[in-house]
Amino acid sequence: MIITSAPAKVILFGEHAVVYGQPAIAVPVSSLRAAVILDPAKRPLREIHLVAADLLRNSTVQPAEVTQALEYAVEVALRALNLPDIGAIIRVNSHIPVASGLGSGAAVAAALIKAVGMGADRPFDQEVLNQLVYELEKQHHGTPSGIDNTVVVYEKPVYFVRDVAIETVPITAPFSLLIADSGVSAPTKIAVGDVRKLYESDQARVQPILESIGQIARQARQAIEAGNTAALGVLMTQNHQLLQALRVSSPELDRLVEAALSAGAAGAKLSGAGRGGNMISLVDAENQECVREALLAAGAVRVIVTTVGAS
Ligand code: MEV
Repeated sequence: MIITSAPAKVILFGEHAVVYGQPAIAVPVSSLRAAVILDPAKRPLREIHLVAADLLRNSTVQPAEVTQALEYAVEVALRALNLPDIGAIIRVNSHIPVASGLGSGAAVAAALIKAVGMGADRPFDQEVLNQLVYELEKQHHGTPSGIDNTVVVYEKPVYFVRDVAIETVPITAPFSLLIADSGVSAPTKIAVGDVRKLYESDQARVQPILESIGQIARQARQAIEAGNTAALGVLMTQNHQLLQALRVSSPELDRLVEAALSAGAAGAKLSGAGRGGNMISLVDAENQECVREALLAAGAVRVIVTTVGAS
C-alpha cells in the first residue's frame, strides 16, 4: 500500500499580479492536506474512489467533473511514465475545501501523481512532479502562474516569479496566521478571467495596481527575511486594498478583513483568487483568540491557525 499527501497553500502576497510577472509569496499549510492511498491490484484494474472528500461537498463542482479531473491526473502521470495503465485501487481523501483559494486542485493532483509514480516503482522527482501538476493546473485554470503547484510540491515558503527559478524564503521569525473561510466557493478560473478582462479593457489603470502589488511582495520578502513581523501586517492590508481595486474581493471577504483588523490583527487580506474562499490575518499570542471570535461572528464558517516558519 502506498500513501502520499500534499499540503494546502496560502498566498501571503501577490496573487493575481503574479500572473502578470510580478513576484508573489506563498507558504504551505502542512496541517491541511490531500491524501492518496494506492493499493496495487493483482489484475489490471483501475478504480478511483473519493473517501470522505471535501471535494464533493461543494456546490460549484459537479461530482463527474471531480472524477474526470482525478482520472486525468492519473493519465498525465501514466503518460509521463510511458505506461498504458496501472492496476490499482486509488482512494483520494482531501480535507482541503475546493474553490476556496487554498490550492485544493494542485494538492490533490500532486498527491495523486506522486502515488502513481510510486505505485509503478518509478517515483517522480520534485521537478518533474511540479511540471506535471502545472500541466493539470493549465487544464483547469487556463493561465495559471505556477505558484500553487510550486508551493504544494516543494512544501516550502516560496518567493515566486513566473518563469524564473524558484526561490525559497527563509523565515527568520515564525509568525501566526488565522485562515478564515468565507463559506463562498469561487472558482479560480473565473476570478483570473475577470482580472484579464479588466486588464485588457483598462491597462493604464490596472498595470500600476499590479506593479504596486509586486512592490509590496518585494518589501514583504525583506520584512520576512529580517524577522520584521510588524511590517508584514501593514503590507497585507495594503495588498488587500489593491485586490479590492482589481475587483476580486467580495462583501464577505471585506467583512472578515474588517472584523480581523478591528479585533486587533496586525494585518488582513484575502488569499488566493478571491471573490470568496479564504482570507488570512496576522495575529499574535495575545490577540489570536479575540480575532478568531471576531471572524466567526463576522460569518467565517471555519477558522484555522497556522504558524509560518514553525519547525
Ligand atoms: C491562485 O491561487 C492564485 C492566482 O494568482 C492565480 C495564479 O497565480 O495562477 C489568483
